[in-house]
Amino acid sequence: MLYIAPSLLAADFSCLDSEINKVADAGAKYLHLDVMDGAFVPNITFGPELISCIRKCTDLYFDVHLMIKRPERYIDRFVKAGADIITVHYEACENPMSVIHLIHSYEMKAAVAISPNTPVDVLYPLVNHIDMALIMTVEPGFGGQSLIPECLDKVQALRKYVSERGIDLDIEVDGGINADNIGLCTSAGANIIVAGSAIFKSKKPRNVIMSMKEAAANNPFKP
Ligand code: DX5
Ligand code: ZN
Repeated sequence: MLYIAPSLLAADFSCLDSEINKVADAGAKYLHLDVMDGAFVPNITFGPELISCIRKCTDLYFDVHLMIKRPERYIDRFVKAGADIITVHYEACENPMSVIHLIHSYEMKAAVAISPNTPVDVLYPLVNHIDMALIMTVEPGFGGQSLIPECLDKVQALRKYVSERGIDLDIEVDGGINADNIGLCTSAGANIIVAGSAIFKSKKPRNVIMSMKEAAANNPFKP
């Protein structure tokens, strides 16, 4: 199933309620929430308190992307804040498998992300234990960057790896994605597509989401 996940990072933070409802009205079902700690990445965004506030504004599926060092310290707080799935970075965990188990112990869905320089095969031992893999298509830290096309080779390799083993894994891509390049992502095998600037900075987010879905449908996974 294909989902477009608008990233709140590109929204106008002075009016989050209307920004969130704008993308819900435009047809989004997911909301991607980028949590940055100023240590794992050189930027700071928001934490569980803000997520718990916006939880009251919407029923959108909260896709929480933790760009924080040793995220196991904070999982309980993001669970309580109202996350629906929690993604941690492979590079930020001393023991990724134990963090996955910790997230699952709260009956919460768990995902693992890899940054552009991390090889995809680190995910192979985890694919039976996670609900989603996130392949970053930019260096994590900032919205508004350009997609790094080489990262899509990892999407293709992972989709091939899981398909051959009969595993139905969601593969998310994040960074620099718009209606012009979403087809590259879906034909490589991604099915959850994060887009910040392309959606929130547009005057017509509904049209952007529709064009993205159309381009995705025209570019199915090609093994
Ligand atoms: C980058 C974040 C992304 C970012 C995407 O570290 O993880 O989710 O907000 O924004 P765009 O679509 O503008 O690249
Ligand atoms: Zn993100």
